[in-house]
Amino acid sequence: MSHAGEAVLAYVFDAYGTLLDVHGAMRRHAALLPPDWERISAEWRAKQLEYTWVRSLTGPAHHRDFLQLTREALDWICDRHGIADPAVRAALLDSYRRLPAYPEVPGMLRALRGRGLRTAILSNGEPSMLNDAVQAAGIASLLDAVLSVEEVGVFKPDPRVYALASQRLGLAPGRMMFVSSNAWDAQAAAAAGFQVAWCNRAGLPDEYGLSAAATVIPDLAALAAPAASAAPAE
Ligand code: LAC
Repeated sequence: MSHAGEAVLAYVFDAYGTLLDVHGAMRRHAALLPPDWERISAEWRAKQLEYTWVRSLTGPAHHRDFLQLTREALDWICDRHGIADPAVRAALLDSYRRLPAYPEVPGMLRALRGRGLRTAILSNGEPSMLNDAVQAAGIASLLDAVLSVEEVGVFKPDPRVYALASQRLGLAPGRMMFVSSNAWDAQAAAAAGFQVAWCNRAGLPDEYGLSAAATVIPDLAALAAPAASAAPAE
């Protein structure tokens, strides 16, 4: 569905992987980890997301928050890769609460707000970890809302998550630009009627037809320029 022509009034961001570098925790403690920590970090991320999808699909009784699933995924990955020291695991999880934002993030948020646009996060993150993250990244004052899936008790890509942004911001999905580096998340937002920007930092191949359905950007700095709010090509 295209919403070409409708003016965007708010930018809604995915947090983990989009504003925040999820590999920042293992990078910070790389000296304590096996040399292939980058691959291990990617496995941690994949396992974390797998847990969210399984929890969502098996129903509300099986929901656990993102902090717990992040810890369970870390424990499994550490068991698998022989990272036995509980202090290292604790340090990694603590660092996950304070992941670095990508360097262009504060300036980009300031630029959007300077154009009178509202800014929000819509994330799987559990509220206290999101709060820690935006404080640590110094972007709390640059966001109008930080919305957690805990309000609806199910993870992305359930449509109820994306509907939460409409409810809380009081805007139709077509008046919001949803920004994610996670192609599956971008696809789900497009399916929910948002205008979408897919931040494809790694230059990955297209998925879900996003190169046609979304505005594809190489990094978030591209959003700071007014032209970036143009609707996707038909
Ligand atoms: C989030 C996950 C998708 O922040 O990274 O919602």
